[in-house]
Amino acid sequence: MRRDSISLVGFMCSGKSAIGRRLATTLGLDFVETDSLVESAAGMPIREIFERFGEEHFRDMEHTAVEEATRRNDCVIACGGGVVTRDENVQLLRERTTVVWLDVAVAEVVRRLAGQPGTRPLLSGPDPQSAAAELLALRKPLYEHAADIRIPTSDRPPDEIVERVVIALEDHDGRTDR
Ligand code: S3P
Repeated sequence: MRRDSISLVGFMCSGKSAIGRRLATTLGLDFVETDSLVESAAGMPIREIFERFGEEHFRDMEHTAVEEATRRNDCVIACGGGVVTRDENVQLLRERTTVVWLDVAVAEVVRRLAGQPGTRPLLSGPDPQSAAAELLALRKPLYEHAADIRIPTSDRPPDEIVERVVIALEDHDGRTDR
């Protein structure tokens, strides 16, 4: 299997979509989001999938999206924040792509979330800050395990993050001679 695609993993609001789009343009690759594939397949927004069918159903659909996205070559894949919670997703991402973890601090997540209310069912309770902190603590080891490359993102402008990703990819490709 060629490894000419790049997947972005990381917590909600870590900038996977915004950075992914820019990265794809910079590298001349296609761009795809697992969340968008799920929404297209379901014909409804993620919030509604959670409400009507529950998280497990969403995770099943998300796995199908990961399977589909990672079959494509030459693209940047922005993954939903929870893809790493299923081993079979991580396996596919690691086999078929170079995995980049956009690492974000909780404070930044909470700041960004305030501008997008109601979009993240897992953080829509009365105390999003504690929910984010708890979930991020659980997820960190999973991102760490999945990733070939870790990029700290907080307090950095998007263009600088993209530049760092490009440099890290070149370095990684040089070392793994892919
Ligand atoms: C989720 C992250 C969301 C979306 C869903 C669940 C998660 O995607 O897939 O709400 O479990 O972390 P983003 O990471 O793009 O927000």
